[in-house]
Amino acid sequence: MTITVEPVSGTVGAEVRGVDLSAPLDEATVAEIRRAFLDHHVVFFRDQDLSPEAQIRFGRCFGELDTHPFVGGMDEHPEVIEIVTEPDDSFNFGGGWHTDVTFLEEPDLGSILYAVDVPRYGGDTLFADQHAAYDALSDTMKGLLEGLVAKHSAGPQYAEGGYSTRSRSMRMKPADDVGRVVRHPLVRTHPETGRKALYVNRGFTIGIDGMRAEESAALLGFLFEHAVRERFTCRFRWSPGSVAMWDNRSVQHYALYDYRGQRRHMRRITIRGDRPR
Ligand code: SIN
Repeated sequence: MTITVEPVSGTVGAEVRGVDLSAPLDEATVAEIRRAFLDHHVVFFRDQDLSPEAQIRFGRCFGELDTHPFVGGMDEHPEVIEIVTEPDDSFNFGGGWHTDVTFLEEPDLGSILYAVDVPRYGGDTLFADQHAAYDALSDTMKGLLEGLVAKHSAGPQYAEGGYSTRSRSMRMKPADDVGRVVRHPLVRTHPETGRKALYVNRGFTIGIDGMRAEESAALLGFLFEHAVRERFTCRFRWSPGSVAMWDNRSVQHYALYDYRGQRRHMRRITIRGDRPR
């Protein structure tokens, strides 16, 4: 199978054509998809027909799958999360810039999202390239950030009243240990490409080691804004059967909630990652 890869923006994201993800893939095709994933950081596929089993089989081509500590999966497939917004919901899951589960010691390498049911309008997802964001900083700022360690916690999203708990249509689990703080380098090096990336996000990063609260708030405030400047982003318009597969070591993402009164139903799996360095 020979696939084609078409960039969707000047910086990040590409659409991959010529592959049927519902069928088992040969090694050469998996290698081509992995190459596109590493080059573009998020790859999109259209017009797929994926059962949860087929989505799991596709995900396992890239590593072991993870389960979410605070969101329950499907009964028969705990590694598949159903991300649902009903017409009468007033919040959506993933609304706000974030990188998945950076509150874990070993955050997921990547996520694969499949669109089951999408609104007639709205509900796009934005992605921002954190290598491009890092590269665009001055050498002086890069020098300042080198060696800094950021603190991450699930608390802001998953503690009682947190943003991610407000969607009534998601299957939330009891949030034990939600306030635990984990530490990651503020600039991480991608283990496969060797490229540096900013590794902080508004969803889960709560401070910087060794700084006073007001100092880290000022620096993080700048980095949160800088990291998602328009020129580092792409925007994906979903249709039923679309798939996005993103590299959590390289991008942040944001599920827009601009489709109030309509239903949106996605299925997500995540691929286990390693300790950021
Ligand atoms: C997420 O994984 O944050 C949700 C993304 C989306 O629903 O578009």
